Amino acid sequence: MVVDGLARLEYRGYDSAGLALVVEGTLATAKKAGKLVNLRKALEEEPPPASTIGLGHTRWATHGSPNDLNAHPHVDCEGRIAVIHNGIIENFASLKADLAERGHTFPSETDTEVVAHLLEEEVKAGYDLPDAMRRVCRQLDGAYTLVAVDAQDPEVVVGARRNSPLVVGRGKGENFLASDVAAFIEHTRDAIELGQDQVVELRRDGVTVTDYEGRPAETREYHVDWDVSAAEKGGYDYFMLKEIAEQPRAVADTLLGRIGRDGRLSLDEMHITDAQLREIDKIVIIACGTSYHAGLIAKYAIEHWAGLPCEVEVASEFRYRDPILNSRTLVIAISQSGESMDTLMAVRHAREQRARVLCICNVNGSTMPRECDGVLYTHAGPEVGVAATKTFLTQLVAVYLIALYIAQVRGTKWGDEVFAMVQLLATMPEKVEQVLSTMGPVRELARSLADVKSVLFLGRHVGFPVALEGALKLKELAYMHAEGFAAGELKHGPIALIEEGLPVIVVVPPRARDVLHDKIVSNIQEIRARGARTIVIAEEGDTSVVPYSDTLIEVPAVPTLLQPLVATIPLQVFSCELATAKGHDVDQPRNLAKSVTVE
Ligand code: F6R
Repeated sequence: MVVDGLARLEYRGYDSAGLALVVEGTLATAKKAGKLVNLRKALEEEPPPASTIGLGHTRWATHGSPNDLNAHPHVDCEGRIAVIHNGIIENFASLKADLAERGHTFPSETDTEVVAHLLEEEVKAGYDLPDAMRRVCRQLDGAYTLVAVDAQDPEVVVGARRNSPLVVGRGKGENFLASDVAAFIEHTRDAIELGQDQVVELRRDGVTVTDYEGRPAETREYHVDWDVSAAEKGGYDYFMLKEIAEQPRAVADTLLGRIGRDGRLSLDEMHITDAQLREIDKIVIIACGTSYHAGLIAKYAIEHWAGLPCEVEVASEFRYRDPILNSRTLVIAISQSGESMDTLMAVRHAREQRARVLCICNVNGSTMPRECDGVLYTHAGPEVGVAATKTFLTQLVAVYLIALYIAQVRGTKWGDEVFAMVQLLATMPEKVEQVLSTMGPVRELARSLADVKSVLFLGRHVGFPVALEGALKLKELAYMHAEGFAAGELKHGPIALIEEGLPVIVVVPPRARDVLHDKIVSNIQEIRARGARTIVIAEEGDTSVVPYSDTLIEVPAVPTLLQPLVATIPLQVFSCELATAKGHDVDQPRNLAKSVTVE
């Protein structure tokens, strides 16, 4: 059961795995470097004794290389207490030095090990495991999810969390703890969201949650609205392929219930009132990676439809300068996981400056929605492949909804356009489906380019963030040099990169945006004249690009601002296919984890 749960979480980090079971007053542990399959094999060769209480972990190394020894769980000197940990314990060096002085020895190089030894001292001093955990947490700095068992107290599992996810699954005569509901979805869909700085005591028939002082703590119960089939591959070779294919449904689900019969939007669930939206005078978007690209597209939509100034920044930079925010600033944090530490820290910084903070998130029960003033959930369902695909498209839907909703509330000059755009948005699931049904030639193209060294991506307007997203997908999946540029910037430097045969993928805006469109057609001619192999993504029927395209990929005609919803898909398919042709595992690219819960 533990290993199957880990398999559903392996995407979160996977350079080693381990488990510990409590068996008649002792611990049975197994740990293996590499993917979970290595641990499975070890357990098949040497099956562990039967047990009804245990814990397991897949690790993404922060302190200490990914070998058997550094794999979790870690145990104390007597092999009585086992601990698993996500996050970083920032003061571990001083804690370790003090413990070493008191005679503790440390076989691993991890920060986690100190927790096992600190718990050991507390239980030896007479505290039970939950009390011991509360006392230890009060000494720790940093971010952590901790889960521990004590072989001599076989009825209880104890967990604690600060700045790192941990959820409870409530079963019948059994209970679960995991960093994501996916781990226990096979057994229960009833979950409890834990708050910051809480300790949870899990028994067969009860769950108790306290703060670090032992006072009863507030939690939120919820029911997960997807089931086990959503967390499985369902016949696809990779989760990523399944998730790309799920995009029409994901887009439709994210629109569901948000467009009224009268064509007006209703986003009451955001918990930010219309009066508050009328007061704001600036929007600041913070996010990382692919979510940041969704933020860049949001800027175009918000400035155009809502008529408000909008800044976008990578979350890791945001709090290290002095952003000018006040109570009239709306900060939008975009995070599929709701756990990215950089974004979470930026959210906290924004709230300290009294800005109102809204988050766009895909995971109910995650940290960010709880810490923000409001949330708009994307309904993409669980995304297991490390590379964001369906969550990106649904983030785009969410930012369009927010931009159009603010326009509706504030009554901007684009009244009719806003109304028309809402109707068009409702048709996007079909357009996305249409793109997916024409991806055969894109796959063929990707396979033919498996040996190239570098690919460039160009775009203008919202096509620029799409180009950045295309380049990011190719880097992370195919481990290739790939860069996205604003096509207008080309002549300011990057054009020097163009050489004979270099593949350049260009996202062309719709013909209706004539100046923009014509400018990019000139850019295509410039690079082709210098030997580039041009791969052009343009709306169907755009014959003006035909003479300059070595390969033409047609997407349905949609308004410019909505074009990223269709233009991104060929780039996802391209990277996925090219990486697969190179023999890479697209669900688990090297060095990457799905949730980056460290800064
Ligand atoms: C790329 C990718 C990452 C994430 C980034 C932010 O495919 O998945 O770049 O977009 O780590 O993650 P969230 O959205 O969970 O905050």
